[in-house]
Amino acid sequence: MHSLLAIWSVFICFTATNAFAINGASLWLDFEIGEKSYSINGVLSNFEQAGNLCKGRNQQLVAIESLDENNNIMKELKKLVDVSTELWTSGSKQANSNKWIWSSTNEEITDFDWGTGEPNNKDGVENCIVFYPNTDLYFEGSWADINCNLSVALPFCQKASKN
Ligand SMILES: *[C@@H]1O[C@H](CO)[C@@H](O)[C@H](O)[C@H]1NC(C)=O
Repeated sequence: MHSLLAIWSVFICFTATNAFAINGASLWLDFEIGEKSYSINGVLSNFEQAGNLCKGRNQQLVAIESLDENNNIMKELKKLVDVSTELWTSGSKQANSNKWIWSSTNEEITDFDWGTGEPNNKDGVENCIVFYPNTDLYFEGSWADINCNLSVALPFCQKASKN
């Protein structure tokens, strides 16, 4: 919690916004791992809204292209934030399909990091992938499938790819 407050306080100094809050804060936390830039915003959104928030700054919802990248993201997030809210990735599928796609890049997902019991397609309506930054919250992996329409996760963006 302390490191989270510290990081976000820096942003507040430069953006002169109102009250600070993790959820609801329309502030961006930007960070880089290797060559790739990522951003997280504090606004609880559904999948479509999250994608639009990314687009608004020439970004797209994240495509986690390998388990190495997944692990590096987890390590970095652990250092940067103490957020217990899940994050929207661009991972999604058609209803009643088993083919998961990074919708930002149109790549089929081949390496998954599902949490225990996931994906479970609960009630047959879970077509989007969220990432759990806080591994204490979850067992084994860091992903779950959830209903894309729920406003329960934060936008997790990457710099838009060239294509
Ligand atoms: C999500 O919302 C859209 C638009 O309201 C609706 O057509 C769709 O059935 C909803 N999907 C689920 C899985 O709730």
